[in-house]
Amino acid sequence: MTTKAIVFDAYGTLFDVQTVAVATEAAFPGHGEYITQVWRLKQLEYSWLRSLMGRYQDFRVVTGDALRYTLGTLGLPTDAAVVEPIVDAYDTLSPYSETEQALRQLGQYRLAILSNGSPNMLDALVRNSGLARYFQAVISVDAKQAFKPDPRAYELVQERLGVRPQEVMFVSSNGFDVAGARGFGFKVARIERVTPAALRQELAAAQIGPAAMYRALRSQTEMLDLAPDAVVQSLLDLPGLLGTRPDAPP
Ligand code: LAC
Repeated sequence: MTTKAIVFDAYGTLFDVQTVAVATEAAFPGHGEYITQVWRLKQLEYSWLRSLMGRYQDFRVVTGDALRYTLGTLGLPTDAAVVEPIVDAYDTLSPYSETEQALRQLGQYRLAILSNGSPNMLDALVRNSGLARYFQAVISVDAKQAFKPDPRAYELVQERLGVRPQEVMFVSSNGFDVAGARGFGFKVARIERVTPAALRQELAAAQIGPAAMYRALRSQTEMLDLAPDAVVQSLLDLPGLLGTRPDAPP
C-alpha cells in the first residue's frame, strides 16, 4: 500500500539526545558521560514502568526523575536548582547533521513527529531547531497518557493525520519503538546509528566505558519477533527507500 505519511520518533532519531552531555559535563565535570548514558536508560525505563503501573506523568517529569536517580547513584545533589536547568537541555537538543536535508527531500509526504516527549518539550525543541515548517503535526503521546510502545500512543497518528497504519512509514532509531510500531502495523525503517561492525571495532579497541556500553545496548534490534521492514544508516537513505514522491514505490 502506498506510503502517504512519514512519522518520525524525536529523541535519538531526528534529535541527538547525546548533546545533553554538554550540560551534564558542565554541571558535573568528569561525570558527564556516565550521567548522560545512565540518565537516558533510566528515563526510558521509567516511562515503561509508569505505563505498566498506570501512573502516567508527563515526559518532563519522568526525565527529571530519571536524572535525580542518576545523580543519586553518584551521591551528587538532586535539588530542583540543579536538576531543572539540565532537564531544560532537552529543549535545545541538536538535530543530527542530516536531519534538515532529509526532511526537505521528503517534503512531498505528510511528515510528522510522534514522541514520548511532553507537548511543551516538543514545541520548544521543534521551535528552537528551526525545523517546525517541515511538519504537518508534532504529536505527543501525552494526549493518551500512554508512552510508546503502548499501541494507544501509535493510534494518535491515524487520529491526527487521517492515514491508516499501512500508509505510514514510521522511522526510529530506538529498538523498543521499532518493535512497537511494527507490532502496531506501521511500515518501519530503523535508523542504525551504529553499525555492528563499527561497534565491534569500538568494543575491541578500548575498555568499555559508559558511552560504548550505551551504544552496544541501544544498537541491537530488540529480540521481540518484530523486525523492521528496512534498516538504514542515515535519514538521508529514506528518500531512496521510499521514492521522493508519495505515489512512487514502494
Ligand atoms: C521519543 C523517544 C522515546 O519518543 O525517543 O522521541
